[in-house]
Amino acid sequence: MTYRSPDPGLEASTNKWMAWGLAFMIMLIVGFVAYLWFEPTARADSLEEHTTVLTEMGAELYDLNCASCHGADGEGGIGPALNSQEFLTAAKDDQITAIIAVGIPGSLMSAYSLEFGGPLTAEEIDGLTVYLRSWEEDAPENPDWRACCE
Ligand code: HEC
Repeated sequence: MTYRSPDPGLEASTNKWMAWGLAFMIMLIVGFVAYLWFEPTARADSLEEHTTVLTEMGAELYDLNCASCHGADGEGGIGPALNSQEFLTAAKDDQITAIIAVGIPGSLMSAYSLEFGGPLTAEEIDGLTVYLRSWEEDAPENPDWRACCE
């Protein structure tokens, strides 16, 4: 068996690598903890921002395309009231989206999705749904929201 005499140069270089390795590991751990800390708020912020952008888009589209029949504030007119607690409780988002997209055949409510010959993209229709949903919190009681059309 040969005994290798200690090599101070090798030992110094090994120690140096180990120190760098340790520093790097600490950086990764700190980075990971910071990521865990900030990521959920970043996601919530971006979701909130997305909803705000959709709501603003929906509000503009509503004024242009829907207010003439459903009222400037959704109070109803030629078409049913949409700003009604009862309607908004009864209708799920995907039902509202589908009605706007496809329309109600045989009525004045036409299809708005490009796919069904209307003028709006799927995202624009999502915006309208999010906008109508934003009324729910303060929507007045109006069990006769369909009074126009019965
Ligand atoms: C030309 C008039 C008119 C326009 C414009 C119009 N609607 Fe309608 N809408 C109606 C009528 C009428 C009904 C009811 C049809 C029926 O059930 O016989 C209706 C029904 C609806 C319903 C279902 C309500 C319920 O009681 O189930 C929703 C949701 C709706 N419209 C959303 C919209 C949105 C959003 C827009 C704009 C993109 C829009 N409408 C544009 C006339 C209109």
